[in-house]
Amino acid sequence: MSAPTPPAQSPTERRVSARVGSISESATLAVDAKAKALKAAGRPVIGFGAGEPDFPTPGYIVDAAAEACRDTRNHRYTPAGGLPELKTAIAEKTLRDSGYEIDPAQVLVTNGGKQAIYEAFAAVLDPGDEVIVPAPYWTTYPESIRLAGGVPVPVVADETTGYLVSVEQLEAARTERTKMVVFVSPSNPTGAVYSRAQVEAVGKWAVEHGLWALTDEIYEHLVYGDAVFTSLPAVVPELRDKCVVVNGVAKTYAMTGWRVGWIIGPKDVVKAATNLQSHATSNVSNVSQVAAVAAVSGSLDAVADMRAAFDRRRRTIVRMLNEIDGVLCPEPEGAFYAYPSVKALLGKEIRGRRPATSVELAELILEEAEVAVVPGEAFGTPGYLRLSYALGDEDLAEGVSRMQKLLGEARD
Ligand SMILES: Cc1ncc(COP(=O)(O)O)c(C=O)c1O
Repeated sequence: MSAPTPPAQSPTERRVSARVGSISESATLAVDAKAKALKAAGRPVIGFGAGEPDFPTPGYIVDAAAEACRDTRNHRYTPAGGLPELKTAIAEKTLRDSGYEIDPAQVLVTNGGKQAIYEAFAAVLDPGDEVIVPAPYWTTYPESIRLAGGVPVPVVADETTGYLVSVEQLEAARTERTKMVVFVSPSNPTGAVYSRAQVEAVGKWAVEHGLWALTDEIYEHLVYGDAVFTSLPAVVPELRDKCVVVNGVAKTYAMTGWRVGWIIGPKDVVKAATNLQSHATSNVSNVSQVAAVAAVSGSLDAVADMRAAFDRRRRTIVRMLNEIDGVLCPEPEGAFYAYPSVKALLGKEIRGRRPATSVELAELILEEAEVAVVPGEAFGTPGYLRLSYALGDEDLAEGVSRMQKLLGEARD
């Protein structure tokens, strides 16, 4: 017997719409907020939660912004889609960093990469369109897809392949309703980086089936060792007419608070997304846009220094995590996240408790070791933890040694 249908609520009884009511809080921001609240209450919490460089924004970028504050042109509304000089600078930067030409009319400047992601999905998807999302995924993609009326279809890769999905896996998830694939390299939360041949294979597969791609290049400058960043539309030009690139200044230039991102795409999609933005938020703060011009057209020296620090911390965190019995951490090649499997620790006794899930383990780590980490549930893969290593070297070493001590107590 099927369950009785609940009585339909009238529009006046429904307080929050079903569409928005179904969206969950960003788990990464929630962990970060909890850690910051404990810190404010005097607890010596070490936070591995936020994906945010600990460096200040480079001085020449801040100077450009300070000057922009005094220019009265920036005290007014400007074109909703972005300052023309920033669009031109983004086109030049794309040629410099990714090696292909775009027209500034293919650029929409957004309030961070997050707005770019939502607007890209909203501009391309119709209700019921399926979007293949490699998992572990960054928590914002499925929520933005749903908000735009689409259906996220996760394709899971694990530590045995270094969290890289294969074309065969993507193909197995494709149906007649598939419209788009999400492609992120370097990846949040795993730090995985696809080789040029793998990027090309994914792009060619998308072209073969007429699929759209949303590719998130926000970590393009943060790759380590022999890893090389490869831009999907650069290596598969046939895909460009159905490819939307998301990028921004947040991670490369330590500018998370400035809120500047962008979309690069075919002109019709960029126009549609610009129309959406013109009603939702209008132009991004002019002062931030001028700062972004300085960032993307300046030298990459400051980025190289930050990358060297991240690389050092990456090697420390991977080594220290792998020293813990029951923790398995593949070496991330990009971004600033480690994504260890903790499956072998679940169900073990630690300080009188038996965490059965990675959510429970993360709670235990926060309460007992005063270390904030994000559980894998937030990224579609229970049994893992995400640790951002964009924090100071001393805090990093202290935080992971506290985890070593606590998790070293695990017993059957
Ligand atoms: C993969 C990825 N894309 C996009 C963003 C969005 O960055 P922002 O909105 O700060 O520009 C983030 C931030 O964590 C990210 O990790």
